[in-house]
Amino acid sequence: MNKIVPIDIQSGSNSMDAYDIERVREDFPILKQQIYGKSLVFLDSGASAQKPQVVIDAVHECYETYYSNVHRGAHFLSQKCTDVYEQVRGQIATFMNAQSENNVIFTSSVTESINLVAQTWGRKFLKKGDQIIVSEVEHHANIVPWQLLQDQIGFDIKVAKIDDQGEFLLDTFKALLSPKTKLVAITDCSNVLGTMLPVKEITRLAHEVGAKVLVDGTQGIVHNGVDVQDLDCDFYGFTGHKIYGPTGIGILYGKMDVLKSMPPYQGGGDMIDKVSFSGTTFQEPPYRFEAGTPPIAQVIGLGAAIKYVSDLGMENISAHEQGLLAYANELLSAIEGVQIIGQAKDKAAIISFLIEGTHPFDVAAVLDRQGVATRVGHHCAEPLMDRLGIVGTVRASFGLYNNKDDVDRLVAAIGRAKELLI
Ligand code: ALA
Repeated sequence: MNKIVPIDIQSGSNSMDAYDIERVREDFPILKQQIYGKSLVFLDSGASAQKPQVVIDAVHECYETYYSNVHRGAHFLSQKCTDVYEQVRGQIATFMNAQSENNVIFTSSVTESINLVAQTWGRKFLKKGDQIIVSEVEHHANIVPWQLLQDQIGFDIKVAKIDDQGEFLLDTFKALLSPKTKLVAITDCSNVLGTMLPVKEITRLAHEVGAKVLVDGTQGIVHNGVDVQDLDCDFYGFTGHKIYGPTGIGILYGKMDVLKSMPPYQGGGDMIDKVSFSGTTFQEPPYRFEAGTPPIAQVIGLGAAIKYVSDLGMENISAHEQGLLAYANELLSAIEGVQIIGQAKDKAAIISFLIEGTHPFDVAAVLDRQGVATRVGHHCAEPLMDRLGIVGTVRASFGLYNNKDDVDRLVAAIGRAKELLI
C-alpha cells in the first residue's frame, strides 16, 4: 500500500485541492442535524458511519423501482435486480483487488464472515493439539467465534501481544509461531487504539509455518483500503455499515483454493446444485456460502458506498484523516489531565482517551450534551481493557466527513467536561 502523506490541516495547504471537505460534508444529510441545539459533531464512525445521499438514494431506488428477489425469477425485475446485485460483487472485487468476483462472499456482517470461517474452514481443518493465534487488540468478534469452536475441538488459542503504547510486538508474535499454528486471525487496525498492525508481514511469517491467515479488516479498510493480493491473506472480512454503506451486509474474501476446500456454512436456497432425499450437491464458491435470500438492497447500497469512496479516492480519504488525526493528537495532548490511550506510530484516525479524575461515561455524557457524539466503554474489546488495566475509554473515531472544526468542538467539549466533572 502506498504511504499516506497527511494533509496539513492547520495551514490548509493542498487540502482544498486534494479533498474538498466542505463539499464532501454536503453529501451527508445527517450532518445538518442539531443535537441539543448544537450542530452535530459525529465522532463515532468506528461504531457505524453515516451514509452519503448516494447510498440512501441507491437503496431507495432499488425498493422503489426494480426490487425483486435475485437468482430466482424469470421476470424482468428479478433479472434487473440480479444484474445490479452481481455487479456489486465485481465492484467489491476490484476495490479489494481480489482475483475475481468469485472470491467475494456476501454475508450479513464481518461477525458472520468470521463465524463462517470458524464453522466451515475451522471445523474441517482444526483439531486437538493445533494452535491458532489472535492478538490482544482483537474485537470480541474475532475472539469469541474461536472460543466457541475451541470448546468443541480443543485446540489452543495463543495471544500475540502489544506494548504499553499499543504497538504490535512482531518479535513476540514470531516466537508464538510453530508448525502447530494452523491459523492467525488478526485485525489490521485496532478499533480502540487505532494501531495499524503489520498484517502483510504477519501473513508472510504465518505462511512460513504453513498457517492460514484471516484478517479482520473492519476498521482498516475504511481508513486505508486494502489490496488482498498484495497482503496475500487467505481470508479478509469487512462490514458494510462502517464504510458508509447500509447495515446488514458484510464481506468475506477468500482465496479460491481455500474456499473450494470448505464445506457449506448454512443450508437452504441458492447454495445448492441439486437436492434430493438421497443426497445434495452444492454450488461452487461464492454461492455455496450464501444460503437463503441475501440482503439485496443492502448489497446495492454497499455498491453505492464503494463507488463513493472510490470516487473520492482512498488515498485522499486517508491523507485527510491523517491530517485530522495529527491535529487532534496535538490539541488533545496539550490538554492537562487528558491521557491518550494508544500512541502507536502507524495509527488510523481513532483516538481513545481518558481525563484524569473523571469516569469515561461521565465525560461522554457531557460531550454528548455539547453535540459531540463519541463512543464510551470497552468497545467490544474487554481483553484489551484488561491488558491496559482500564475499564474503558472515550473514543473519538473520525470519518471522511470530519473537519478541523469537529476537532475544535471536541476540544471545547473536553474543556466543559473538565469544568463540570473535576
Ligand atoms: N465494533 C464497533 C466499534 O468499534 C461497534 O465501535
